[in-house]
Amino acid sequence: MKSLDKAKKHNIGLGTAPLGNMFRDVPEKEAEETIQNAWDQGIRYFDTAPFYGAGLAEIRVGNVLSEKNRDDFVLSTKVGRYMKEETEDKEGLFEHGRDNEVVTDYSEESTRKSIEQSLERLKTDRLDMVFVHDVSPDFHGDAWVEKFDQARKGAFKVLDEMRDEGVIQGWGLGVNTTTPIELAMELEDVNPDVCLSATQYTLLQHERALERMMPLAEEKGVDIVVGSPYNSGVLLGGDHFNYAEAGEEILEHVRQLKEIADKYDVHLKAAALQFSTAHPAVSSIIPGSTRPDRIEEDLKMMEADIPKDFWNELVSKGFISEKAPLPK
Ligand SMILES: NC(=O)c1ccc[n+]([C@@H]2O[C@H](COP(=O)([O-])OP(=O)(O)OC[C@H]3O[C@@H](n4cnc5c(N)ncnc54)[C@H](OP(=O)(O)O)[C@@H]3O)[C@@H](O)[C@H]2O)c1
Repeated sequence: MKSLDKAKKHNIGLGTAPLGNMFRDVPEKEAEETIQNAWDQGIRYFDTAPFYGAGLAEIRVGNVLSEKNRDDFVLSTKVGRYMKEETEDKEGLFEHGRDNEVVTDYSEESTRKSIEQSLERLKTDRLDMVFVHDVSPDFHGDAWVEKFDQARKGAFKVLDEMRDEGVIQGWGLGVNTTTPIELAMELEDVNPDVCLSATQYTLLQHERALERMMPLAEEKGVDIVVGSPYNSGVLLGGDHFNYAEAGEEILEHVRQLKEIADKYDVHLKAAALQFSTAHPAVSSIIPGSTRPDRIEEDLKMMEADIPKDFWNELVSKGFISEKAPLPK
């Protein structure tokens, strides 16, 4: 996809879910420095969403990027949720975010409203890519099919129009499961250009994605942006696996991976970033962070030397699928 070419410098962008105060209350200065440092390190792709702190991440991204030349970076945000002036009690993932009431709705009217609000918070007149957010079983249970249908008649149509008019470069789904992306690629009347697949094509978890989503993406020419490459932090010693408290089984899995990585003097971050980006369907990877010095670390890890024997051992021990393309 053309819009991603600019973002491809390091094949890496900045994910801003944590900058919506996910898990913790991030001081304003730290948030601003994280985005500014990413810029200073040459990052030119930023992914955000209204959901991340009820607009907080978008506001923080807008504050820094509105000072830059708009033609120099690629911006993606999401639709499917818009904000009301009224407030609500927050709990869970974004309890430290803004307290505006968030309405989930994939209709045409709400999609347009959501985009208008995002443009305002991001202080820009255009978006490059738009993802239809969380139209997926992990958020809606069995009702995700109805939500998908609402999006098919609403959000998808609006985004098709915007792409045809050249207002956006491309759109797709932004979800934490593979089935909605597979369905979107299979349906004749749905034409995504790029999909954000979070948690599903990572060093920790990729078997399901390799069955159908990744081959289909290659076949249809749909770019995959990999979100949550550390499965929300557990791979690097965090407490969360796919946004919930990590259980003993996954912690043990990470311990075993780390033991092998230590033997070869490989950092698991390097292995994670290089593994996900080795798949030809992947156009970009967007690790999230709230710390200004992480970005430099990420860039080094993308370039770190990893011995072939390390990958071979992971495959032979079943940590990596035999179907997965390995980094060269
Ligand atoms: N449905 C969707 O569309 C969807 C879903 C999920 C994610 N996404 C996108 O994908 C992006 C990435 O996902 P994510 O940010 O949720 O998860 P992630 O990238 O898998 O993990 C981010 C976490 O890793 C931690 N981390 C990074 N380097 C570390 C290190 N050296 N040691 C310890 N911890 C480290 C960060 O902590 P620090 O803050 O301390 O650096 C942060 O909490 C999101 O920001 C969002 O843009 C989209």
